[in-house]
Amino acid sequence: MKAQESMDIETRPMTMEDYPQAIRLWESTPGIGVSSADQADKMARFLERNPGMSFIARVGGRLVGTVLCGHDGRRGYLYHMAVREKYRRMGIAMKLGEACMAALRKAGIEKCHILVYSANSGGLSFWKETGWIQRDELTILSHPLTEG
Ligand SMILES: CC(C)(COP(=O)(O)OP(=O)(O)OC[C@H]1O[C@@H](n2cnc3c(N)ncnc32)[C@H](O)[C@@H]1OP(=O)(O)O)[C@@H](O)C(=O)NCCC(=O)NCCS
Repeated sequence: MKAQESMDIETRPMTMEDYPQAIRLWESTPGIGVSSADQADKMARFLERNPGMSFIARVGGRLVGTVLCGHDGRRGYLYHMAVREKYRRMGIAMKLGEACMAALRKAGIEKCHILVYSANSGGLSFWKETGWIQRDELTILSHPLTEG
């Protein structure tokens, strides 16, 4: 048995109490794009609009993984799947993703999307290995709604 397998990994829905550790994890994880949408007030609104859908993993009280999940009534969306480096390849991200899929299914959502940086080969491998399908026929376009 690997040493990590004996670790007590707890997963539970994310709350704003997790935010300080979560934002530190996102800011220090290559492959995660942090923006103004991640400010505390925006995050509180996201969690409130999508109750019980975003999850964190903890080991010994320390946050080691996160995933944000929400839906707009039609499709589900995941953001900020991140696992602290030392705790990778232990199935934490898979467990977090499965928790999101269960929550979306329960809400009657039939499909979920995730945006991944094209250069993030590790992230893309993770999604593909866990059953996600790359949509080569689609390209993301964005439109800012604020000045500057
Ligand atoms: C991507 C990430 C979240 C995966 O977390 P993780 O907890 O290590 O993933 P899991 O242990 O659940 O991996 C499940 C399976 O996915 C695949 N996988 C995971 N990471 C992989 C990698 N870097 N390269 C290739 N395959 C990978 C493997 O098949 C793995 O199963 P195995 O360990 O039995 O081979 C983590 O590497 C990370 O935080 N990366 C930086 C942030 C990021 O890129 N996030 C995703 C983009 S939004």
